Amino acid sequence: MEKTVVERKGGLKGEVTVPGDKSISHRAVIIGSLAKGKTIIIGPSRGDDNLRTLNAFRMMGIKVDEPKVDQLIINGRGLYGLTEPEDVIDAGNSGTTVRLLTGLLSGQRFFSVITGDRYLRKRPMKRVVEPLSSMGAKIWGRGNGNFAPLVINGTKLNPIDYVSPIASAQVKSAILLAGLYTDGVTKVTEPFLSRDHTERMLRFFGANLKRKDNSVSIAGGSNLEGREIEIPGDISSAAFFIVAALVIPNSEVFLKRVGVNPSRTGILEVLKKMGANIQLLNEYETWGEPVADILVKTSRLKGTKIEGDLIPKTIDELPILSVAASVAEGDTVIKDAKELRVKETDRIKAVASELKKFGAEVEEFDDGMRISGKDKLKGCDCQSFGDHRIAMSLIIAGLRASGKTVVEDTSCIGTSFPDFKDKLFSLIQ
Ligand code: S3P
Repeated sequence: MEKTVVERKGGLKGEVTVPGDKSISHRAVIIGSLAKGKTIIIGPSRGDDNLRTLNAFRMMGIKVDEPKVDQLIINGRGLYGLTEPEDVIDAGNSGTTVRLLTGLLSGQRFFSVITGDRYLRKRPMKRVVEPLSSMGAKIWGRGNGNFAPLVINGTKLNPIDYVSPIASAQVKSAILLAGLYTDGVTKVTEPFLSRDHTERMLRFFGANLKRKDNSVSIAGGSNLEGREIEIPGDISSAAFFIVAALVIPNSEVFLKRVGVNPSRTGILEVLKKMGANIQLLNEYETWGEPVADILVKTSRLKGTKIEGDLIPKTIDELPILSVAASVAEGDTVIKDAKELRVKETDRIKAVASELKKFGAEVEEFDDGMRISGKDKLKGCDCQSFGDHRIAMSLIIAGLRASGKTVVEDTSCIGTSFPDFKDKLFSLIQ
């Protein structure tokens, strides 16, 4: 199993471009495939999760051209243009692939089976299977429909008005995609706004979609048209460089063209509250998604509280924010984050157990944790539990700690950020 060894050296200095946003890249392939005509995707993520989505659409008859390294052309075939996959679709580690595709596959005129790796097969699917079943979807799965492999017998669906108990973009998006295959208006309401890339992109492609507060409605049968779409850099990948630059003395890092959609920038809000020196520069908007360069300089951080509507906006960044908290002055309390327990691994348990190995003080709660900051961390042997964001967070903690750190099982980083280590190590002075 691949491991990564790091030691504290000088500060981080220089400019970085992070991979295209993972969530937006999935959606561009999905929505582009359902649109009529060509969709040109500029700068998509090439992480394994995104390749899984791309491969699923190839299996369903979508022709994909790759004229340049950073470009994909999806030859969309319209809402009913997909064809039955001959084999099981393998979503790998990707929760977004399995959940969004379950929504979409429910409304097709064919049969399909979708599965994933040993981690994904343990993650809950009832959150999409239940609302989709109430739309008339025919889905079977292990554990009474809660676990992949999921078997889907595509059928005509009915619209629903669904009030979701959790703020989840994957649930919301699965229902909206299924809603395209109904004869009415499908509405989803969530307790707090989760990332809204699906809504923004569907509208850009011509869907009849309306948003009010935390509710969104889509009309079935909307005609989608192929578009050219630039993918902003992934703020969830940028997060590792942002925190690294803040906590490693004498650092100054400039991140180019990062997506700063307000449903994703909770990390910037939290870090600014903690006293971080972060500036957004050269802001612009591309097809409805805001983008900016981000300049970060080493800062003294203080503890804070992360809860309520901040949770969906920071959900993927809580492991790396915990690293920041572990060296901040005072306590940081994370609450209302039970969802962390059903991510690629149980991220509350993983963060608590592994940060403690660095000498950090962490108290675990059912829905979060309290981290009492210390100035010093000490190098240790720790593990990722096969979770890319845990692996990258621990590498950053290792660069801040004294002595040597060995992070076990780091090949999972390829899920979202294949050249993370090269980019990170090239900044070290
Ligand atoms: C994602 C939504 C989030 C996030 C995941 C990607 C998406 O999950 O954690 O990494 O692309 O829709 P939930 O929507 O389940 O919270």
